[in-house]
Amino acid sequence: MDETKKALMAAMEAYFGEDQKRINHAHCVTEFAEQLWQKEGGDYLTVFGAGVLHDIGIHQAEKKYGSPAGKYQEIEGPPIARQILADLSFSPERIDAICEIVGHHHSPGKIATTEFCVLYDADWLVNLKDEYDIHDPAKLASIIDRVFLTRAGKALARETYLGKTG
Ligand SMILES: [Fe+2]
Repeated sequence: MDETKKALMAAMEAYFGEDQKRINHAHCVTEFAEQLWQKEGGDYLTVFGAGVLHDIGIHQAEKKYGSPAGKYQEIEGPPIARQILADLSFSPERIDAICEIVGHHHSPGKIATTEFCVLYDADWLVNLKDEYDIHDPAKLASIIDRVFLTRAGKALARETYLGKTG
């Protein structure tokens, strides 16, 4: 892993502190995002940065509103992400792109960039089992079709949850 990526991971881990659950989630989503990026493309560091930081507003959301709900994370996340990325000398364009994703990652349809779609699908690849009953394959197949935005995301979701390739 190169120095910038390592430093970003370390900054996210330092920010989340004892909250290993969030740290693990960020790692898992980033790994899926990198896999999807290989198929879908987009700016790699934007995808990586969005994976690492997408839920960075969750502690502030809980603190300020007493809720980790997506809409509060979307408000609280971008300023925190912006500070972390600026400290690591990310370019202004990339900081804007990452913060835009962080600020909309529970609101599909508002941003149509490849990087957004890749992050959105990567988050769902991790969260699907917690949000839906994954035991009915027919239902799950239609949920996957509805929820995921990218071809690679749908394919990887089918492979991961339904054991189907292609
Ligand atoms: Fe997430």
